[in-house]
Amino acid sequence: KKLIIINGPNLNLLGKREPEIYGHQSFEDYLDLLKVKFPDVKIDYYQSNVEGELINKLQEVGFSYDGIILNAAAYTHTSVGIGDAVKAIETPVVEVHISNTFSREAYRHQSYISSNAAGVILGFGLMSYDLAIHSFS
Ligand code: DQA
Repeated sequence: KKLIIINGPNLNLLGKREPEIYGHQSFEDYLDLLKVKFPDVKIDYYQSNVEGELINKLQEVGFSYDGIILNAAAYTHTSVGIGDAVKAIETPVVEVHISNTFSREAYRHQSYISSNAAGVILGFGLMSYDLAIHSFS
């Protein structure tokens, strides 16, 4: 299986950013462990703080990969463009969030991605990504 994790804005700061919400581990460290845990899965990784770059990446991988694990971060709640890209591509997208967005501010309860996602996993910290990889096996 060939999967890609796509992370949106500010997730490059994981480990440093609001650790009480997002934890103390950097995504790079976590990704190394993930690759050890899933030796049979090819896990690519892409992060961008730029909305259009996330759309370009979804289009680039969205007709050839087996699965996309997408944490669009704040764009989840604002981006019709990313929602449309998820709808336009063929590869199934699992929407992931580290925090339980429903226990947070009301503006985080809306997602432009969920209606076109294969599934949504949220609230389990970085383990949300583990669970998303499991969902493709
Ligand atoms: C997030 C939740 C979003 O509301 C927030 O804007 C993020 C991260 C999460 O993984 O919990 O940046 O997607």
